Amino acid sequence: MTKSVPEITLNDGLVIPVIGLGTYAIKGNQGANAIKHAVDELGYRLIDTAYNYENEGTVGEAIRRSTVSREELLITSKLPGRYQPYDKAVTAIHESLYRAQLDYYDLYLIHWPNPKQDLYVEAWQALLDAKKDGLIRSIGVCNFLPEHLERLEKETGVKPSMNQIELHPFFNQEEQRKWHELNGVVTQSWSPLARANEVLQHATLQKIAEQHHKSISQVILRWHYQLGAVSIPKSSSPERQLENISIFDFALNEEEMNTISALTKPNGRINNQDPAVYEEF
Ligand SMILES: NC(=O)c1ccc[n+]([C@@H]2O[C@H](COP(=O)([O-])OP(=O)(O)OC[C@H]3O[C@@H](n4cnc5c(N)ncnc54)[C@H](OP(=O)(O)O)[C@@H]3O)[C@@H](O)[C@H]2O)c1
Repeated sequence: MTKSVPEITLNDGLVIPVIGLGTYAIKGNQGANAIKHAVDELGYRLIDTAYNYENEGTVGEAIRRSTVSREELLITSKLPGRYQPYDKAVTAIHESLYRAQLDYYDLYLIHWPNPKQDLYVEAWQALLDAKKDGLIRSIGVCNFLPEHLERLEKETGVKPSMNQIELHPFFNQEEQRKWHELNGVVTQSWSPLARANEVLQHATLQKIAEQHHKSISQVILRWHYQLGAVSIPKSSSPERQLENISIFDFALNEEEMNTISALTKPNGRINNQDPAVYEEF
């Protein structure tokens, strides 16, 4: 039943699958087994965690329980806002690794820019140094607006490999995605299913899903893929994990893609977390 997932190459050469597993709130013994199932039985290879999810240990345990080798997996974690000062960032990266009992992360991202705090450039410097030290293979960010991304490049000469942003049919991020594409930064979609809110009952999506004999979730995840975005749907259910990774045997036509993109709303964010003002620590 293991699925084969297409891959995408980041601007630093790291190759990652176009669908990964989100793990927010997947914790403990049951959580480790849920992640192991996704990896061993279904073919998930990219696993997304964060220091602030307090489940890096669960992800590490899932890796140890898995029959798939560490080298075949791509593990992402993220630096919290409160650890953006350079020295604290260095310590946090070591602690992140310790919690997961890993020697390296494949991807490590700054979790939020926190522009009022204005420390993300030094956090970036810490990620750059950790990469040089072999603790991280690829470095990126989450929730960075073009102005934040431009500043990183201006001050350090290095652009992130990836920007993980809120992206789903109610918030399609057209401008931000365009910027990424022009600048060689891969878009990764967080809450790709809008946390299973009312989008999963939308009549327009239901019609498209019926035409393809797929679920609305599969249509949405296929839309992400055809937009060129890497998605990381979270599910702790084996059935839904399978559903979410089974999207490579059909295609949406241009009209369907445009119809889904047109569901976007100016205030479509799930929790109104605008990175220009919202800060998370
Ligand atoms: N960088 C950031 O700032 C940031 C912010 C938020 C999230 N993230 C990351 O992105 C990941 C995904 O986002 P998310 O967890 O917020 O939301 P999501 O993946 O859009 O949705 C997860 C919710 O949808 C349900 N679900 C999953 N597949 C389904 C399906 N096929 N049909 C019906 N329901 C389904 C899940 O329940 P079950 O588990 O019961 O299936 C869960 O309640 C997170 O887990 C986290 O790793 C990053």
